Amino acid sequence: MPETVTITDNRTGESAEIPIENGGISMNEIQKVIRGTWVVDPSFGGTASTESAITDLDGLNGILRYRGYPIEQLAEHSTFLEVCYLLLFGELPNQEQTDVWVHDVTFHTFIHENMRKRFMEGFHHDAHPMGMLMSAIAALSTFYPEAKDVFDPHNRYKQINRLISKGPTLAAMAYRASIGMPFVYPDNKLTYTENFLAMMWKIAEPTYRPDPVLAKALDVLLILHADHEQNCSTTTMRVVGSSHADPFSSAAAATAALYGPRHGGANEAVIHMLEDIGSYENIEPFVESVKNGEGRLMGFGHRVYKAYDPRARIVKEQADKVFEVTGKSPLLDIALKLEEIALNDEYFKSRNLYPNVDFYTGLIYQAMGFPMDMFTVLFTIGRMPGWLAHWQELLEQEQRISRPRQIYTGVGVRDYVPLADR
Ligand code: CMC
Repeated sequence: MPETVTITDNRTGESAEIPIENGGISMNEIQKVIRGTWVVDPSFGGTASTESAITDLDGLNGILRYRGYPIEQLAEHSTFLEVCYLLLFGELPNQEQTDVWVHDVTFHTFIHENMRKRFMEGFHHDAHPMGMLMSAIAALSTFYPEAKDVFDPHNRYKQINRLISKGPTLAAMAYRASIGMPFVYPDNKLTYTENFLAMMWKIAEPTYRPDPVLAKALDVLLILHADHEQNCSTTTMRVVGSSHADPFSSAAAATAALYGPRHGGANEAVIHMLEDIGSYENIEPFVESVKNGEGRLMGFGHRVYKAYDPRARIVKEQADKVFEVTGKSPLLDIALKLEEIALNDEYFKSRNLYPNVDFYTGLIYQAMGFPMDMFTVLFTIGRMPGWLAHWQELLEQEQRISRPRQIYTGVGVRDYVPLADR
């Protein structure tokens, strides 16, 4: 059987046989037949916006691989910084590459003092840390104007380094500002994840050493969030990047996309939902209300996964380890029961709705002591290398600026009516 499709425009009789390459057909080829007619796909559910060699996601079979490596193996054996390198440069680093990469990231963790004293302190005392982080990432572009030179690979490497290394510093700074605690400077002797936890929690200790089980669990969660192909925020990064904006501005836009409750904000929404349910006997009525269309079961469902999200399974394992250190969250039993009921309910089964990565991450973050409004901030730190890998790939692909078309459904031409006559 030929791997092709035939498109015929019945208005003109014009026809073309178009090859199916890697599971896709080229819109350029279709356009040659149906000139002036657009494919309508508002949320891009049937559109491959690019070719990409970074992340392989098979939603039907619940498979996720970064550069070919299964997520399960990376979560077990790798570190977040190593995964960053893998996503960005395509291969696992050897010892020498590891040393250089870790050194470069570690020594870019400091930020300009003006950023802290003038910028961060300018926010209202109850500002959401995600809003602060998003603005701070955008503001970095004003400190590094050379970042505009997006076609110089050396320059690109430097900005990538800055965004990965300064993310935890800015995130911890946003948190400390929101609770009125003094900022903790980075400690370059600690690992990436330890350093973040130290900047979050250090009080008066000369060196803050986080519990290794918690540091490892957070590192694994960052790995699980590091990339997820053309999701909403990564697509935003690519769309803004396609205008050749600098990477700080593009990453700030991607952070904004992640902020929404349908995307990165879901882990926060899960905790609100579990707290609202409150006790065992309220679970069944809650599930019924979801089925009646009165809201969604947060942490369930996914545009691409129509099977159990492989990340959710790993998160669940990490939750057990974390709870051994922190004590069990009272909401865990509600979450487990809710999952069991939903997985056996026809409404969820028939729609292929399974737990996604966010169903259990919030419980872990909460047990570690993170306030709810920091959850999406943690997702941002984790997703940064994915955004940057796609941004870099986009520039290397020399893609045209993203510019979809529309189907105009408004009124036809009409004459201007003076104010007095309206
Ligand atoms: N609870 C109840 N019903 C749902 C849910 C849910 N969580 N998700 C989807 N459905 C139903 C939906 O009502 C629809 O039913 P019907 O066919 O009767 O109209 C059907 O399932 C298909 O849903 P959809 O809205 O077409 O699915 P989508 O691909 O547009 O949405 C989603 C994907 C993730 C936005 C959605 O599943 C959702 O809102 N989930 C809850 C929020 C959440 O957990 N988000 C985190 C996603 S994973 C982390 C990330 O990548 O950011």
